[in-house]
Amino acid sequence: MEELDFENRIVSPTEIMGDNDSENPLRPRRLDDYIGQEKAKENLAIYIEAAKQRNESLDHVLLYGPPGLGKTTLSGIIANELGVSFRITSGPAIEKPGDLAAILTNLNEGDVLFIDEIHRISRAVEEILYPAMEDYAIDIVTGKGQMAASYHLPLPHFTLVGATTRAGQLTAPLRDRFGVTLRLELYSPEELAKIVTRSASILGISIEPDGALEIASRSRGTPRIANRMLKRVRDFAQVMSDGVITLDTARTALERLEIDELGLDSNDRRMLTAIVRFYRGGPVGLETLAAAIGEEAVTIEDVIEPYLMQIGFLNRTPRGRCITRAACLHLGIDLPDVQDGQIIFE
Ligand code: ADE
Repeated sequence: MEELDFENRIVSPTEIMGDNDSENPLRPRRLDDYIGQEKAKENLAIYIEAAKQRNESLDHVLLYGPPGLGKTTLSGIIANELGVSFRITSGPAIEKPGDLAAILTNLNEGDVLFIDEIHRISRAVEEILYPAMEDYAIDIVTGKGQMAASYHLPLPHFTLVGATTRAGQLTAPLRDRFGVTLRLELYSPEELAKIVTRSASILGISIEPDGALEIASRSRGTPRIANRMLKRVRDFAQVMSDGVITLDTARTALERLEIDELGLDSNDRRMLTAIVRFYRGGPVGLETLAAAIGEEAVTIEDVIEPYLMQIGFLNRTPRGRCITRAACLHLGIDLPDVQDGQIIFE
């Protein structure tokens, strides 16, 4: 089967060049400008205020949830609201304990250090992180044998903000060292419509409310996808309707991009169709499915499946993935027999 290009599709929630540079004008800088995630935001506002009143660094924060929901944005806001510097790195970028030691010793009092994909740091790096988080210190050993020497290096009181797609992927000792854990949820179409309207205004794009809602409803609950779609739809609007994004232009543009009313693109539809055609609707093991469609298992699990499960199109069962009746109805595929959302063939 032809390889699917999940990374570069318009509905990919993973970052594409230009999405994530710190210059991105679409990123809100203050908590008040951050739309949605009300629960996380309310609690965070209190922790930030309390830390400021006590003149202390904020406790370490763990953010988890599917990609594209604004974990980096929220971390930048935390630093901004605290009035401190913001340093960004990621689990895979920290190769050796020395890399992390260098970052930590260069922080200033109160700074926010953001580690994206924190579940991907190595054991050796994680060992450095424990005392750094708990005691604001690192222990470095140099040399070997008689030449060995150990140094206890105090660090400034900093705030670590860790981001991961699934909190369950972290080791228990690391998870336990975060004082605050916030789960980010997929956004509602109404929240996404507000984000799209705000982004349009920043980019100088005219958009009608039902045009914004149309983009929002096809964005899989994900601001990063909504903002990317807005830019593509603008191109169609510019050429087709004097630059104004109306309901009609949004619909036409998204149809041309082959993104359906639920935000599924041709790759989603082909993956779901493959489950029906090749595996009789499932159950099919994740690895088998990954091999069949030429995609990494983790990408399917973290990027593609959360939304399909949220809209009730896919079930994860102990024996594998199963497509649901709702998905078949949406795809217009005839199915023999469906019970409890699972397809029974015999
Ligand atoms: N851009 C990305 N996420 C956002 C959010 N939650 N609020 C406002 N703008 C955003």
